[in-house]
Amino acid sequence: MVANVIREGMEAVEQKLRSVVDSDVQLLTDASRHIISSGGKRLRPQIALMAYLAAGGDEWHEVIPLASAIEMVHTATLVHDDINDHSLTRRGQVTVHARWGRTFALLTGDYLFTKVYEMMAPYGAPYNEIMAEACIRLVEGETLQAAAAKAGQMDRETYKAIISRKTASLFDAAARMGAMLAGAEETVVESLAIYAHNLGLAFQMVDDILDIIGDPEKMGKPVGLDVAQHRGITAVQNGHAGEAAAVAIAEMTPPADDPLAQMMARLRDSGAVEIARMQAREIADRARAALVHVPDSPYRQALYEVVDMVIERDK
Ligand code: IPE
Ligand code: IPE
Ligand code: MG
Ligand code: MG
Repeated sequence: MVANVIREGMEAVEQKLRSVVDSDVQLLTDASRHIISSGGKRLRPQIALMAYLAAGGDEWHEVIPLASAIEMVHTATLVHDDINDHSLTRRGQVTVHARWGRTFALLTGDYLFTKVYEMMAPYGAPYNEIMAEACIRLVEGETLQAAAAKAGQMDRETYKAIISRKTASLFDAAARMGAMLAGAEETVVESLAIYAHNLGLAFQMVDDILDIIGDPEKMGKPVGLDVAQHRGITAVQNGHAGEAAAVAIAEMTPPADDPLAQMMARLRDSGAVEIARMQAREIADRARAALVHVPDSPYRQALYEVVDMVIERDK
């Protein structure tokens, strides 16, 4: 029953995403469809839908445009993020900028972002304000990250600020708006938002771990980009790894042949990944703890299962 409702809802999200991006400027239609039909986990819209259901919502159709708008924000940021990260694959396909070039990738990202206004318009305030706030945080997070990487200053606090803004803010908004739309009381809305925020933090930490130990085939995107661009490696080093691992990493000097592969191998051996995973688990526990204030239901159970999935995932 629960699985059926979620499946139906997510199919509706899929249809919505595909139908809204058509433009009479063919390139925008093509590039948008390319990134949308490449798949993706669709975790954020699922969180919006599940929060709505767990908060007592019983007309899931009303949350579909909102959930789709959340995924649209995410999709737009991926198109832009891949330009910034010089990444050539995404969701198992060539990235938009690798196929259409940087100019059109920028414009495609802009187009997808702009679609979000259109999709959110019927909801009015405070929903579009919450969405705007999440988008602002996200851009701030990406900016802080680029600045910190450039300056070589990725300390623990900076890392936390970055992942809270660039990733957790959208998870938070998804659950918050889903729960509000269901008409839930304040405590339930806040609890689901806290759940999703912590889930988002843990999700990003695992993403950073997978940049070091993941299989690019499974993930459909390259590994080692954070290491190469002085982000994830230092994020894990200073943000999670603790003293011993930090020293081990700091003493690394890239060997002459394939320095990136060697650095990644040493990083894997340093214990930093295990420590990072432990920290991600701690944050995941906070997500679970927040669900205590949400009424018991099969949907709440499903939210618990998402936490396990996020922590154990390999793609
Ligand atoms: C990738 O997000 C960007 C991060 C915040 C780590 P996802 O891993 O959810 O990407 P898709 O949507 O499944 O491709
Ligand atoms: C997530 O960060 C980007 C956004 C939140 C937009 P990453 O740069 O780690 O995402 P991936 O690894 O490219 O998917
Ligand atoms: Mg990236
Ligand atoms: Mg990443």
